[in-house]
Amino acid sequence: MSDTGRRRGPGKGGPAKGTGAGRTLKARVKTAKKRTDSSTRWLQRQLNDPFVAEAKRAGYRSRAAFKLAQLDDKARFLKRGGRIVDLGAAPGGWTQVAVERAGSKGCVVAMDINEMEPVPGAVTLLGDARTDEARARVREALDGAADVVLSDMAAPATGHAQTDHLRVMGLVEVALDFAESVLAPGGAFVAKVLQGGTEPELLARLKKAFAKVRHVKPPASRAESAELYLVATGFRPPDSGG
Ligand SMILES: C[S@@+](CC[C@H](N)C(=O)[O-])C[C@H]1O[C@@H](n2cnc3c(N)ncnc32)[C@H](O)[C@@H]1O
Repeated sequence: MSDTGRRRGPGKGGPAKGTGAGRTLKARVKTAKKRTDSSTRWLQRQLNDPFVAEAKRAGYRSRAAFKLAQLDDKARFLKRGGRIVDLGAAPGGWTQVAVERAGSKGCVVAMDINEMEPVPGAVTLLGDARTDEARARVREALDGAADVVLSDMAAPATGHAQTDHLRVMGLVEVALDFAESVLAPGGAFVAKVLQGGTEPELLARLKKAFAKVRHVKPPASRAESAELYLVATGFRPPDSGG
């Protein structure tokens, strides 16, 4: 397979050496009266984050684009001509990477519960992935089986670790139910989970349905963040004897 076009944008999934990404000169943020400590810290981190700078340079809508590029560099699930569903897609960084890697013969259907600017080359839908109605619209736009179901869905953090964990796991289950109903044999499922891992029951279900299941922390995922990604490949539909 030719890599032409596939590696546009983030290249190997992140800022290259010599791009200034590793500079030690740190931007400092003056504390404004109305800015809280946490938003000052957020702003300072954004200004000093090499992936934020590189995303801007490469035209990506979010630094999250690099997470998907790095996950795919490792596990190679985004194939040219692939049919990809992206749940929790706004503002669209993952969708941009999916469109690039699937190429012009691919099909990318992106959905978010919040409005997002359309991504050229993808079908973008507004909807709550937890509802049958929204998932039916994804299915209709896809018009056939999917090769990959991605979920970067995340509910706003409450700061209460157990509540946040339960919410994320609820969204992962929604995405997995959908994936199992729409994936073609051999397909892949990639979803954001939180450290502490995937619950044993869910993991057992994944291991039954997929040939290979792993947890990956891509370099673009901040070390202090509890997120990591579940990458399951080689889907075995229930009636395939797998
Ligand atoms: C971390 S952001 C996704 C970032 C995106 N992958 C990117 O690269 O730009 C998580 C997204 O999940 C969406 N989300 C949360 N719950 C959802 C739901 N039930 N249905 C659809 N989208 C949802 C949020 O609105 C938010 O835009």
